[in-house]
Amino acid sequence: MTKKFLLYSAPFFILFGAFSLFEPWFYRNLFASTSIDRLEGKEFQIIAHKGASGLAPENTMAAFQKALDLGVDQIELDVRHTKDEEIIVFHDQRLDRVARDTLGNPVTGDVHDYTLEEIKQFDVGSWYDSHYSDQRIPTLKEVLDFINGQVTVLIEIKHMDHPHYDDFAEKLVEVVMSEDDGESWIILQSYEPEYLDIVHELDSLIQTKALIIGEDSAPLIAFYVETRIHMGRAKESNRMKAINPQWETLSPRRVFQMHAKGYQVHAYPVNTREDMIKMLNAGVDGIITDYPNVAIQLRNEIRRLGQETQ
Ligand code: G3P
Ligand code: CA
Repeated sequence: MTKKFLLYSAPFFILFGAFSLFEPWFYRNLFASTSIDRLEGKEFQIIAHKGASGLAPENTMAAFQKALDLGVDQIELDVRHTKDEEIIVFHDQRLDRVARDTLGNPVTGDVHDYTLEEIKQFDVGSWYDSHYSDQRIPTLKEVLDFINGQVTVLIEIKHMDHPHYDDFAEKLVEVVMSEDDGESWIILQSYEPEYLDIVHELDSLIQTKALIIGEDSAPLIAFYVETRIHMGRAKESNRMKAINPQWETLSPRRVFQMHAKGYQVHAYPVNTREDMIKMLNAGVDGIITDYPNVAIQLRNEIRRLGQETQ
């Protein structure tokens, strides 16, 4: 009887397992609505990824200015350490993708191989468009002074297994604390929960967010493992306010689960209007995007829905 039951029920278990593993794929490719009709009254955070990085070179003052001009709610940026341990705003470990020397050649090596003075010589705008050849890598302090609480700043602490990074978290906290009322408008996020733990030991008021799923992760299996780990840690410390997962790992059920555990969910990087609508229909609280102009336009349309029915 038990044997028979196992034999007959096995296909259902296999099907159910496969479905739940690929649930986000089914959602976004088969079931997700791309209509805004059911989004009336829906409010959400618009977070400019590396500034308005689809409209200007990423992580530059030009991209941050553009994001502010568009009226975003938050600006996301990435931080790293230079050789002389200054905190700069830069995404990659290596410089060559976006940095050019005075001759216009890609700069070789890692960020932490260069001092701040050397780094300031590099042009990080031309790779995007020659119009931006004056753009330099900003320090975190320069960017925070520039934004000065006009919008929330979401700082991503990038992982680096290098002696230059030994006291990275401590230095970051110092910079955040040096801003007027910094704890109210600056949030730290990382794939590395250890950094966030250190940050909280140094200053219990600083807000943090867990990031789950990096480019190197095997998407769906990793989603389960990482979500469990992060949610477990967040529960222990009660310090994590939100979880920012890669958008392809989300479905309405998964967003519901995160909400049930008390977290806001901000999906990244969502760059087309259609995908933004799918994510909003799944229930996310925020959209992290390279194209905040698209998200702002969408938000205006959704707000107009409400006015039309009044
Ligand atoms: O905010 C999430 C996102 O920025 C993480 O990925 O590679 O764009 O820094 P990445
Ligand atoms: Ca980032």
